[in-house]
Amino acid sequence: MADANPSPTFPKAPIRAMPAPGWPPTQRDSTSGIDPAQIRRMNLNESPFPPSPRAIAAMQEAATRVNYYPDPRWRDLTEALSAHTGIAQNRIVLGNGSDELIVQIARLAVSEGDEVLVPTPSFPSYGKVTAINGGRLVTVPVRQDGAADIDGMLEAVTDRTRLVFLCTPNNPTGGLLSTEEVVRLARGLPTSTVLVVDEAYYEYGRHAGGQDHLAALADVQVPWVSFRTFSKAYGLAGLRVGYALCGSDAMAEAFQKIRSVFNVSRIAQAGALAALADQEHSRSILERTRIERERIAAGLARLGCEAFPSVGNFVSAKCPKPPAEVCAGLEARGVMISRLHAPGYDDYIRITTGNADDTDALLAALEEVLGA
Ligand SMILES: Cc1ncc(COP(=O)(O)O)c(C=O)c1O
Repeated sequence: MADANPSPTFPKAPIRAMPAPGWPPTQRDSTSGIDPAQIRRMNLNESPFPPSPRAIAAMQEAATRVNYYPDPRWRDLTEALSAHTGIAQNRIVLGNGSDELIVQIARLAVSEGDEVLVPTPSFPSYGKVTAINGGRLVTVPVRQDGAADIDGMLEAVTDRTRLVFLCTPNNPTGGLLSTEEVVRLARGLPTSTVLVVDEAYYEYGRHAGGQDHLAALADVQVPWVSFRTFSKAYGLAGLRVGYALCGSDAMAEAFQKIRSVFNVSRIAQAGALAALADQEHSRSILERTRIERERIAAGLARLGCEAFPSVGNFVSAKCPKPPAEVCAGLEARGVMISRLHAPGYDDYIRITTGNADDTDALLAALEEVLGA
């Protein structure tokens, strides 16, 4: 029984070079000794608010028919998304969460030695999918307001750049870009690159007064795609439905070529469709999130932490104590939050907004941990 990999060729070179994966911690990973059911999940940017009752009913109904495969062309959901976004139905591609679409775009665009340009700190999957394809990650620090530095990113483009990720609102800083800024970047990129606008937190940005960039992107030259998700503002992270709004037919066709046929389950398609139709429920999630985010930001300021001005369902801040200590202290009090894992941001924590009760518990625990 040999543990060592006997193969000189498997897995292929870039993947051999990657470290073993680390998984996002949930309550079951907590070493606090507290009953996992009592631990508050404020570390994964999930919604603490359940999905629309209409979505739950639609999923229950769909569950009675899971002996049949789902629609491989996701017709009902892409038709509704087309009406919702104004993007042609044939340019909408669904993913098993938008994370799957991030994997796919890197597979489509990045070969060994290519450069992938990203803001930092930002969503860790960008680095992972770059490594899978043997690419090189080029990072540009975000601005003080936590949004991507458009001029800095344009300066960092080389003739090896193949993929550019913009994340707005940016996870984990929560900074929001204007349409003028997104379009300025798009217009400055050569057509040998692809622009991804990761809008996982799009709805939160709009709720905070942000713009929709899709119409303005319609006539830029660079190939582009926007990724959105049902995981956040619709409270459906466990369902796994994300979607790509593609800037051209060619972009959509590329995704269609490589995807697995039945990638979004029958239950997921039905739940997302019903959730999309219940905008009032989503709006109430957004408003309750805004209230708790503002309470958390005010509490952080009171406790001497410097927070980025986030519009997302999370707040990141620099604390007067080491983040490892803060996270452990909070976890011992039944609250899980996370640290930022990006060079230069080692002294930051990120807190996902919860419900009102979660905020009370978080702020009380933070006061003890930071006051001690
Ligand atoms: C910026 C960003 N993009 C994409 C994702 C992936 O979301 P999902 O795969 O649930 O759609 C996340 C999740 O936290 C995120 O923060």
